[in-house]
Amino acid sequence: MESLSHILNHLGEERENYRNAVAPPIFQSSNFCFKTVDDMRKGLEREFEDPFYTRGNNPTVEILRKKMAALEGAEDALIFSSGSTAISAAVINSVKAGDHVICVQKPYSWTNKLLNTLLARFGVETTMVDARNEEEVFAAIKGNTTLIMLESPNSATFEMQDLEIICTEARKRNIRTVIDNSYSTPLYQNPISLGADIVCHSASKYIGGHSDVVAGVLCSSSEIVRSIFEGEFMTLGGNISPFDAWLLLRGVRTLQVRLDKVTATTKIVIEYLENHPKVDNVFYPFAKQNPQLALAEKQMKGGGGLFSLTLKTEDIKKVEAFSNSLQLFLLACSWGGYESLQFPQCTLYGSANYKTSLPFNMIRFYIGLEEPEEIIEDFERAFAQI
Ligand SMILES: Cc1ncc(COP(=O)(O)O)c(C=O)c1O
Repeated sequence: MESLSHILNHLGEERENYRNAVAPPIFQSSNFCFKTVDDMRKGLEREFEDPFYTRGNNPTVEILRKKMAALEGAEDALIFSSGSTAISAAVINSVKAGDHVICVQKPYSWTNKLLNTLLARFGVETTMVDARNEEEVFAAIKGNTTLIMLESPNSATFEMQDLEIICTEARKRNIRTVIDNSYSTPLYQNPISLGADIVCHSASKYIGGHSDVVAGVLCSSSEIVRSIFEGEFMTLGGNISPFDAWLLLRGVRTLQVRLDKVTATTKIVIEYLENHPKVDNVFYPFAKQNPQLALAEKQMKGGGGLFSLTLKTEDIKKVEAFSNSLQLFLLACSWGGYESLQFPQCTLYGSANYKTSLPFNMIRFYIGLEEPEEIIEDFERAFAQI
């Protein structure tokens, strides 16, 4: 296998074809032309492999496609305009009317909507299970189960699934497994090596890394990727723009250094919070108090910067005062960029559009590239308010 630095910095970049430009060009072209009718006919036949029309393939996007497949240890990959499109394409490709899906209990909100609202309209039934216990997953399998949808860990309370046990059993029973691997990135968890069939990412997070792109990635076998390309990818048209692909290529150069830095800072911050008298609980795969810590150590290489905590208070106003006092943590959704963020669950309380089963005193944090001392100083200031 190629080294990580080779994949991030060199794989797929045929610089001699671009006048030896070090940074790849942005092929801002919707279509690609041919000399003869026969060439065009052949081009059409190779639409999956080569640029013909940018909804399918584009040379800038192609570089990213090769890198992402190599990072996940997959045969191939597709790059989408969002993580949600990548997940939707993977799921839709795996089901038909009358099929049954098993899904982890707290998936990303739009994955939940896809399964339980959108696909339910087309006769796909979904059972949500507490997949921390694989026996609950296996007990939910029915004769028409075609897909197990995993997300390990999830991005709010970080419950995990034993990927190897679940994916191995699913494969034996001819059931496809799809996993949202956004939390870990391909650097900290490789589900394909544990038996998963399709791995999806929101590349809007760490892969982009600068909070300036919305994008998605799907990695799988050549056969599955081709089937998704010819079906969902070309039909739904959720392709990424060449410029956004170029931004992602720029982002991945520093993926390892950003992720390692964020993880090291988060370790210090978690230790501080775990011992704080005003914190009720800390939710993080690598937290000492996580009952699934052994599983995190078994299947993940690191934790990244996303975690949640609950404050010791019964007063929603105090939670709001705490969040409002934080100066470093921007109040915003998403994560994986350079900047620290917070998402208080109480934001969703009273919302007409969003529902949550999470407590009002829970806040999700993302640790960016700031120094641990300044982050802890910010927390100290906010704790003093409650
Ligand atoms: C865990 C997880 N999966 C998927 C998505 C969807 O990705 P995108 O916003 O790129 O569509 C998100 C985005 O917030 C996410 O947090």
